[in-house]
This record gives sequence, C-alpha cells and structure tokens, in this order.
Amino acid sequence: MKQIDPNKGLRLQRPESIVFVLSIDKNNKPSGMIAGWNMRASSNPPIIAVALSENGYTHKLIRESKEFVVAVPDKDLEEAVNFFGSTHGDKVDKFAKTKVKTTNSTSIKTPLLTDATLNYECKLINEIKIGDHFVFFGEVIAAHHNPNKKILMNLGESNFTQF
Ligand SMILES: Cc1cc2nc3c(=O)[nH]c(=O)nc-3n(C[C@H](O)[C@H](O)[C@H](O)COP(=O)(O)O)c2cc1C
Repeated sequence: MKQIDPNKGLRLQRPESIVFVLSIDKNNKPSGMIAGWNMRASSNPPIIAVALSENGYTHKLIRESKEFVVAVPDKDLEEAVNFFGSTHGDKVDKFAKTKVKTTNSTSIKTPLLTDATLNYECKLINEIKIGDHFVFFGEVIAAHHNPNKKILMNLGESNFTQF
C-alpha cells in the first residue's frame, strides 16, 4: 500500500452522494447549493448533517432562517447540479436561471424540488464550525419521495451516474 496525501485519498472515495441544500432569505427567496459532504447523523429523531464551506452563501441563509431542504437529485437534474454547484446565490438567482421547478413544503418555508427523487424538510438544530466548513445538523421533520426516480451520484471531474 502506498501512502498518499490525505485530501487526495478522501477525493478517491467515489461515487459520492450529492444533494441540493436549499434555504431562504429574509424575503423568503430561495437559493441553494450542492453538497457532497452529507450524512445521516441520527435515526431517532432523524437528523442529517451537511458540511458547507465558509466561502459560500447558502450557510448564511440557513443560519438566519433556521431551516433548510435537502433534495436528492436524479439524472434529469444534472444540469442544475452543475449550476447550483458552481455559482453563488448572492450573485445570481439560481432558480430563475435554471427554471428548476419547486413545490411548497408542508412544514417549513423553504420549497422542495418538484423533480427531485427525495426531499427532506429540515429544522436547524445545531451548527459546528469544523476547519474551513460549517456543519449544519437538521432534524428531518418531513420527507417526500418520487418512487419513479433514481439517485444521482458523483464520480468526480463532472461525471455522474445514477442508481
Ligand atoms: C458535485 C459537487 C459537490 C459539492 N460538494 C460541496 C460540499 O459538500 N460542501 C461545500 O461547501 N461545497 C460543495 N460544492 C460546491 C458548492 O456547491 C458551490 O461552491 C456553490 O457554488 C456554493 O453556492 P452558494 O455560494 O450559493 O452557497 C460541491 C459542488 C459540486 C459540483
């Protein structure tokens, strides 16, 4: 076995699950980003965690609104994944530019992605600063499923597959 740079090693761990992380500003305008660094953190109550870079915009929305939606895409949303994952919400209206369809949530103000495979409505319960990322923990208070859709996974270097 060959010793390698730790970050290089971590990048080799593919395919990576990717999600949209969405939230709203003071005027209830939604924005969001893509996060490969997502995980389940508890089952009772159901809690998920996402690690968001301190350089982005979405973490500011979550901190203010105390809520977020995690949406799991399928291949139909690949173009939107690339756009939401490479532009900043304080500079561009990502929903207007991509025409991604939204549906009202049942329990929070942040909208769901109509065409996502799974949507989780999350209430912020904790935030921890770790290195150069903020990790947000959200209790999943409602979940929605499109059973006819698959799950898009990141293979790296802008290549995706779905299961
Ligand atoms: C496949 C993929 C995975 C990503 N994973 C993360 C992640 O886990 N955490 C993160 O902070 N940024 C991640 N990004 C980058 C953000 O989505 C990107 O910086 C985005 O432009 C931030 O948007 P915002 O400034 O509107 O919040 C990822 C991007 C892509 C394309």
